[in-house]
Amino acid sequence: MDMKKIELITLQTAHTTYQMGVTPEGFLLQLYYGPKTDDAMDYLLTRYDRGFEACPDEMGTDRTFSMGVQPAAFPVYGNGDYRTPAFSMKDENGVYGCDLRYVSHEVREGKYEIPGLPAAYAGESKAQTVDILLRDALTGTEVTLRYGLLPELDVITRSLHVENKGQGDVYLERAASASLDLVSGEYDLIHFYGHHGMERITERTALHHGVFAIGSKRGTSSHQHNPFVVLADRAADEDKGSCYGFSFLYSGNFSCEAEVDSMNQTRIVMGLQPEMFSWRLAPGECFDTPEMMMAYTDQGFAALSHIFHKAIRHHVVRGPHRIGPRPVLINNWEATYFDFTGEKLIDIAREAKSLGVEMMVLDDGWFGHRDSDFEGLGDWWVNEEKLGMSMAQLGEKIHALGMKFGLWIEPEMVNEDTDLYKNHPDWVYQIPGRAPVRSRSQLCLDFSRTEVVDYIFEQIAAVVKAGKVDYIKMDLNRNIYDVYTHIAGWQNSGMILHRYVLGVYRFIQRLLDTFPQILIEGCSGGGGRFDAGMLYYTPQIWCRDCSDPVERLQIQYGTSFGYPVSSVGAHVSTVPNHQTGRITPFETRAAVAMAGSFGYELDLNLITEEEKAAVKQQIIDYKRYQPLIYEGLYYRLLPPDLRRDVTAWSFVKEDGSEALMWAVVLNPHCNSAVTYVRFKGLDPDRRYRINDSERTYSGQALMKAGWPIPALTGEYRTWLYHLTVCE
Ligand code: DGJ
Repeated sequence: MDMKKIELITLQTAHTTYQMGVTPEGFLLQLYYGPKTDDAMDYLLTRYDRGFEACPDEMGTDRTFSMGVQPAAFPVYGNGDYRTPAFSMKDENGVYGCDLRYVSHEVREGKYEIPGLPAAYAGESKAQTVDILLRDALTGTEVTLRYGLLPELDVITRSLHVENKGQGDVYLERAASASLDLVSGEYDLIHFYGHHGMERITERTALHHGVFAIGSKRGTSSHQHNPFVVLADRAADEDKGSCYGFSFLYSGNFSCEAEVDSMNQTRIVMGLQPEMFSWRLAPGECFDTPEMMMAYTDQGFAALSHIFHKAIRHHVVRGPHRIGPRPVLINNWEATYFDFTGEKLIDIAREAKSLGVEMMVLDDGWFGHRDSDFEGLGDWWVNEEKLGMSMAQLGEKIHALGMKFGLWIEPEMVNEDTDLYKNHPDWVYQIPGRAPVRSRSQLCLDFSRTEVVDYIFEQIAAVVKAGKVDYIKMDLNRNIYDVYTHIAGWQNSGMILHRYVLGVYRFIQRLLDTFPQILIEGCSGGGGRFDAGMLYYTPQIWCRDCSDPVERLQIQYGTSFGYPVSSVGAHVSTVPNHQTGRITPFETRAAVAMAGSFGYELDLNLITEEEKAAVKQQIIDYKRYQPLIYEGLYYRLLPPDLRRDVTAWSFVKEDGSEALMWAVVLNPHCNSAVTYVRFKGLDPDRRYRINDSERTYSGQALMKAGWPIPALTGEYRTWLYHLTVCE
């Protein structure tokens, strides 16, 4: 490669460098993404005749340049690259092809926004935007690669802005938000799979030649795969090694494809799911992709998680409840399910209040004819007969107890026995002439239609207003199938599912605009829509429908890789656990739930006096520790592998002056070997008291030699250590 002719575009953050290069022909190459360097990294490029690879026309008889082997900054289908593209399109005649070439770039202060979509904001921090304009000469399509830099955090965000500046329609068939080509190295993909009741299980997959893909085609980000992944050097672990994190700020279909090509180069492409996607752009129209947030560190997974925790807490989550504290809540779902009256709810709330709980949340079943999950969804009138009072009265009574009041909704769904469905059968996703598939006996409303979103909003807003509701739990209990809309012109188009997500975001944004103080908790049958896009609107998300703390150890572990604990809705429930039948100590249920936005989900009238005293103390402890739990650095000390004897995690103040460590016994043994837990993030040169001990311990020793967990007797027993630094 003639290095002199490569024009460099270099993005610098505090500790990382992301460098691209423009060839004289206008190809945009990916040169480097890694530890900070001032060097020109174009020396990494090589040119050889690679038989069977395609050469651009202007190379003439020179066969040494092929986009099929060069590292592309943004791989497109149409310039000779056979590998996974980030972008592909058809012209109005259905012909695939696109040859995006560099036109110009500009750097400006501040972070870009994306209309109608979540995007990281800079707040008080410094930020830059770099726009790189590419053009396809034949169709006139212009693509702006948009990079946002939050330099202090080592975060780079990405999105595409596509504009049809040609004369005919074009169809975007792939429009991924980010890709990364790495010319060397062997990598694993750490990803988070699952299903309802069991989301975000951590899996580390070694990448080999070929494509490894995950994603969602369910209309939401899904329980099955999470739109956060880590591309890790094979030797990387919690404490060391190169790793790249990718978090997609989007709550709909997505895909992540990692390809190792035959030259041992690795490519990752992540963004909108190309299946069921085909976006028609008429002349003059624009399209923006959702945002990808990327980060790199050579310090291992804990450091990568800390970047994403801070970025999401301080640059994605918005509103008055962004930082916390958040109210300790009681939710009636596992206490009553559908079987309640207003008085029964007030009984639960009264007892909870006497123990220190701050908010009562009324879950499913308060509206329409909704006494089971077979009926009633969509009729958002208050069932006063069932409650024995109006929503205004119920809200007043809860508020009179000195508590906040929360309400469950599921706006995107409908049961067929409702007035809503009878009056508007065309408002659901259903293909004319075909029987619909149902899930939880319900159908999905067509939120790609403005009038549907507006109607549901008006119904729900009236109830929220009447009850002076402080908090909403916004649920979604099925995925989308039968994709068909009645909007003329795009009944069956590949535009519906993205427009659906835009409709959902519009709905939530209207709630936030109308009720600016409200706290919204996201939910989709637990954590089926747990993504950084949703966290832009809802500071916390109910993390899993299984409330068994031993099961939750797994999900909270997996979730912590990409998301801060403040985003994890976590509750103490009864035993035997309703989902697994497991019996666990009360203290362990609380210990696990405290690694999140804490609450209770049981009838506190039915617990023993001893347990009531424990609840009081738990709430005092949680409120005392909440700033450290939310703002401290989270460390996964021992993973919740059920074959291990102990699992442990900790929160450490960034200056190392205070820490909390929880350890839970997974397997009790007779005469057990000792488990030593090594602390992380302490100040090696200072000494600590543990649980106010007289004796002090060196930070260095606690991190290198560890701390012995007492005898492993008592199943699922919990140990809590509070470390304070000695002055
Ligand atoms: C699923 C949620 O995850 C549960 O917490 C509960 O709200 C039910 N839906 C109510 O139908």
